[in-house]
Amino acid sequence: MGDPSGGHSGDGGLAAIGRTPLVRLEHVVPDGAAEVWVKVEGGNPTGSYKDRMAVSVLTAAVERGEVSPGDTVVEYTGGSTGTALAFVAGVLGLGFTAVFSDAFSDSKRQAMEAFGATVLVEPSGDGTITTRLLERMRERALALADAPGAFYADQFGSSDVPRGYHPMGAEIAAQLGGAPDVLCMAVGTGGALMGTLAGIRASGVDPALVAVEPAEAALLTTGVPGAHRVEGVAVTTNPPFLDRSALREVRTIEQDRAFEMCRTLARTEGVFGGGSTGLNVCAAIDEAVALGPGHRVVTVACDTGLKYLGGHIYS
Ligand SMILES: Cc1ncc(COP(=O)(O)O)c(C=O)c1O
Repeated sequence: MGDPSGGHSGDGGLAAIGRTPLVRLEHVVPDGAAEVWVKVEGGNPTGSYKDRMAVSVLTAAVERGEVSPGDTVVEYTGGSTGTALAFVAGVLGLGFTAVFSDAFSDSKRQAMEAFGATVLVEPSGDGTITTRLLERMRERALALADAPGAFYADQFGSSDVPRGYHPMGAEIAAQLGGAPDVLCMAVGTGGALMGTLAGIRASGVDPALVAVEPAEAALLTTGVPGAHRVEGVAVTTNPPFLDRSALREVRTIEQDRAFEMCRTLARTEGVFGGGSTGLNVCAAIDEAVALGPGHRVVTVACDTGLKYLGGHIYS
């Protein structure tokens, strides 16, 4: 099903997953800093790198006979994973039910529904993402997954999640023509960070690893939960796929700086992303300044800014 360039063939729209561009930032990186390269993932079919994990999880589950056409996939989600799962589920003849919340962009709810999902909305109260809210969403999803014909996608547990990002790492190594010195990415489950690292390492190179989190919910550095507005990241103090021993460091970035970076990136670099992209680029620039010339830092524009229009970042 997969091919070495990260694409997929033989399953309609799934063939459009992967093979995204890697671009060098020209304007936002100060003179005297290392190069900063960004893997622009917004060109995936649902506008997010989550398509990579969704196709990995669901095709592996179908191949193992754990789910069959007519069954319903269940997951709790801030919307990007849910949209990717809805898209892949539809192509594979599966249903999809998402447990979502009004703390996330309404456009993400609409996108999931456009791909045929049933979306259940757990009220947040004040529009912020908290660990308590995520726990309530999880409990609701697990209860639904108990029904006959239901399959829990398990974005926080399935080893097919990080595996889905191996092609992204292979693409980065090939596009860069060698090793980045640092790979730097914000962490939700840690699947994208660790899977990408594994894909790069399989190409025989071994960058230093830097995890990124919002200062308002510095779960990795302080363990103290906090309300924040960066969708998809800082969801648990113990990201299931994150191997902390592989990290050189964790960088915390203030969310307002990340959101300002999103606006600057759109206007000056033509890189259009969401809040996690802003976090990633801020941290990559800080890394690049610390490293100095002659080095390369790679990070990711996780998804397209189109998902955030009408939200707090761009309006
Ligand atoms: C927009 C966005 N950025 C970053 C992440 C973090 O990715 P991961 O869960 O692989 O660490 C997510 C995960 O949901 C996301 O939706």
